[in-house]
Amino acid sequence: SNRTNVAIIGMGTVGAGVARLLIDHGDRTARHAGKTIWLSKAVVRDLNKPRGIDLPAGVLTDSIDEVLDDPSIDVVIQLMGGLSPAREVMLRAMEAGKDIVTANKALLAEHGGELFTRARQLGRSIAFEAAVAGGIPIIANVSQCLSANQILSLEGILNGTSNFIVSQMDEKGVGYDETVKLAQQLGYAEADPAMDVDGTDAAQKLAILSHLAFGATVDWRDIPRSGIDGLDPADLGFAGRLGYRIKLLATARLEDGELELSVGPTLVRKGTPMAEVRDAYNAIRVVGDAVGPVFYHGLGAGQMPTASAVVADVIDMAVGRTPITFQTLEYFSEDRPARAVQRD
Ligand code: NAP
Ligand code: HSE
Repeated sequence: SNRTNVAIIGMGTVGAGVARLLIDHGDRTARHAGKTIWLSKAVVRDLNKPRGIDLPAGVLTDSIDEVLDDPSIDVVIQLMGGLSPAREVMLRAMEAGKDIVTANKALLAEHGGELFTRARQLGRSIAFEAAVAGGIPIIANVSQCLSANQILSLEGILNGTSNFIVSQMDEKGVGYDETVKLAQQLGYAEADPAMDVDGTDAAQKLAILSHLAFGATVDWRDIPRSGIDGLDPADLGFAGRLGYRIKLLATARLEDGELELSVGPTLVRKGTPMAEVRDAYNAIRVVGDAVGPVFYHGLGAGQMPTASAVVADVIDMAVGRTPITFQTLEYFSEDRPARAVQRD
């Protein structure tokens, strides 16, 4: 057909940005997809909440079944967050013959094995570029562009909220509670910001990247982690006087064939690219055995950067370009031994 019909489930920060790109830039998406990408439905809980976007009549609904039972919808863009009912919705959507695009890293880190196995059984695809590092195309890069390499290490700032909070405290002297509220207002934080500030979100993203980069099956709970919630503001000052900044770094490194993983506040020397990553920006340094070091930098959270990644996945789906998903399926569904070892 010359049209791909899509439905968004969850019209919060990211969903509204995706709707904006699909509606305001239909010419652009059609040019890249070679066909029209048509927003058929957008599902929310509360129909009366302002969405900041004019949706055509009949698009907004509070019924997920309306999407799942509609055979004309080809792709479900799952942006509702949380584990349940997000997991059940994805399973039902795939059983109804729909492909999935999602930004929900918590769900993939928790139930990725089940979801990707089911996708393979059903011949469906799950694309998830937006699940790690927002607007930075790190999923495509690690799983596709660098696939000639054995990746040796990967380290980065994977949580925009934590980086925003630390930047505000360090450079502007704003208090911790105030910066957390600001991160929520700006749409960076998770529905429960504890997942951002205690290192959970970064560990979930690191587990996903480790599947792709190293083929390792990693339970995010096994990654030793600490967050920025325990940071004493005075530590930022001490680090600064010694020539360092404190960054929440997620690290995966192959050492003698074993994968070492950790998430925690780390001293990074001022003036290095990683130390100069500000606000809700993310950065990832990947070292491959052939390519050497590659550095990625861009907005890791927020409405439009995240929507940028989601809509690119939707266009890939419309074109039938889903190699990342295919490769990921192999990783998630094969019985590979976990190679993660804990670091003290
Ligand atoms: P959000 O602002 O909290 O939006 C969630 C949306 O889902 C809301 O529109 C909500 O409806 C809807 N929803 C929740 N439960 C539902 C249910 N049972 N039935 C129907 N609709 C339901 O979240 P967000 O920031 O957009 O994040 C969405 C996902 O993207 C999450 O998985 C998050 O981790 C991920 N993500 C977010 C960012 C970011 O910068 N925000 C970046 C990357 C990835 P109501 O509005 O009616 O309550
Ligand atoms: N809450 C997440 C962050 C959103 O701050 O990085 C992007 O995944």
